[in-house]
Amino acid sequence: MRCNRVKNRIHTLKKERAGLTFIRITLILAIISFSGCAGWDTNETGLVTDKAMVVTAHPLTSEVGAAILRRGGNAVDAAVAVQFALAVVYPDAGNIGGGGFLVLRQQDGSVDALDYREKAPGNAHRDMYLDAQGNVITELSFKGHLAAGVPGTVAGMVQLHQKYGSMPWAELVQPAVELAAKGFPLTRKEAKKLNDERSDFIKYNTQRPAFILQDRWREGDTLRLRELAYTLARIRDQGRAGFYEGETAARIVAEMERGGGIISKEDLAAYRPVWREPLRGQVGDYQVISMPPPSSGGIALLQLLNIAQNYPLEDWGWNAARTAHLMVEAERRVYADRARHVGDPDYYDVPVAGLLDTAYIRSRMRDVSLDRATDSDAVAAGAPAPPESPNTTHYSIVDPEGNAISVTTTLNSSFGSKVFVGGAGFLLNNEMDDFSVKPGHPNSYGLVGGEANAIAPDKRMLSSMTPTILEKNGQLHLIIGSMGGSTIITTVYQIILNVTVHNMPMQGAVNAGRFHHQWKPDWILCEWGALGFGTGLKMWWRGHRIAPKSGGIGRAAGILVRPDGRLEGGADPRGDDAAAGF
Ligand code: GLY
Repeated sequence: MRCNRVKNRIHTLKKERAGLTFIRITLILAIISFSGCAGWDTNETGLVTDKAMVVTAHPLTSEVGAAILRRGGNAVDAAVAVQFALAVVYPDAGNIGGGGFLVLRQQDGSVDALDYREKAPGNAHRDMYLDAQGNVITELSFKGHLAAGVPGTVAGMVQLHQKYGSMPWAELVQPAVELAAKGFPLTRKEAKKLNDERSDFIKYNTQRPAFILQDRWREGDTLRLRELAYTLARIRDQGRAGFYEGETAARIVAEMERGGGIISKEDLAAYRPVWREPLRGQVGDYQVISMPPPSSGGIALLQLLNIAQNYPLEDWGWNAARTAHLMVEAERRVYADRARHVGDPDYYDVPVAGLLDTAYIRSRMRDVSLDRATDSDAVAAGAPAPPESPNTTHYSIVDPEGNAISVTTTLNSSFGSKVFVGGAGFLLNNEMDDFSVKPGHPNSYGLVGGEANAIAPDKRMLSSMTPTILEKNGQLHLIIGSMGGSTIITTVYQIILNVTVHNMPMQGAVNAGRFHHQWKPDWILCEWGALGFGTGLKMWWRGHRIAPKSGGIGRAAGILVRPDGRLEGGADPRGDDAAAGF
């Protein structure tokens, strides 16, 4: 009896000590994240032009896009040229071995959306990343040949150009061919990234890629990518067939055979992008046009914006504790819905209308306290009305006619699977990690999922990409999107609120510090100093856990149509991003 009491006391003391340690650690982390002086200039105005604007992740690609517009090309022509040029100068995300989503709005107000997302290979299966005991094999879905989905980028660009392009295809791919063949100077950030990835490039490649020809890259070094130049020249000359057939396809399949991957010749031949009806929703004065599934971006963004409009965020103020708390509580619930209900609509009945139903969205916030954080374990996905019937690195461009395009494209994580296609010089994506490899098991972004996003042959993996266009009173108003995996949605959400509620200029809205909550793990990821000391402390007091995030959250590219009709670019200072225009 006595012995039990002593044991209990020791247990209690241990728990108290663990609790105190937890409090101390949280407090230290909180102080670190609140007190940093990040110097977010939320009043800064970006490049302002009269007619046309291109904002991308790299100064060279913004120039490529602007040059196409100067020659009379439209926004789609510029987008195609930028996509291929990004594959050369911004290889961590720009790609021909990955995929993406885009939303476009023509000058007459008509809209369209293209899904050129990667697909699971035909030989993929639900348990392909599990061992015999049913445990997830670390990194198998994330690095190396098995991590790659069937690329969609080249087919996507061909489709886009065929439907909306105006200049000859070859002229749009040529700038990328030249950049790869002649070489280009590395920025400091790119040189560092290539150095950081060196050991993975060696580990996961069957042939030595150009990226490791040099031991250590420095700012200003010229990177020449001859094999990539030949591949791009085949795409320039043969279009779709230059990638999905012939020499490039043969090299992809040979690479798969050498490295134990499963993308086949048939998978490549069968890949098709899909035109989809963009999601639209009226939020206050704004019509939001965004990406439907298989991206979760549009649904989540519309849910978040719908919730925000029910609260006086403008009066509460930007990043005031109440504002930040409310946004986090909304994010917690929206990401719980994402994990349960959203996947490839060709394989799973996504209850889109139910998730976007105003009454349903309001009901999700019913148990929110304005004084206390909810525990994520107490938040489950809601039960939206079932679907009525079965259905289905960011850049922003505006051309002189007022056509606008919002494109998010990716290899998934930085440099994708790290695997280069031998002899073809390009990286393959690791998009298979965006599937739920096992119910409840977090992917590289910590996202969990279930049946809706389980692996199946030829299925598209769920995305967070959120290419978005806003209209105000029927007129083009804002083109926005970001990189950042699961944080894309909340980055776009915050920037839209910064512009539409907190009245920041485009550049200030992109500069502004960011934070992110995704239901699980149950913490707020917070850029250095983003919340400010007072707000951070109040959030901590309400019971929020805060994890500081070095290196920034998201990298956005925005264009705002100002009241005088001129265009303002917002290029993200977290990267080498740049705006160009005239
Ligand atoms: N690969 C990141 C996403 O699609 O969400």
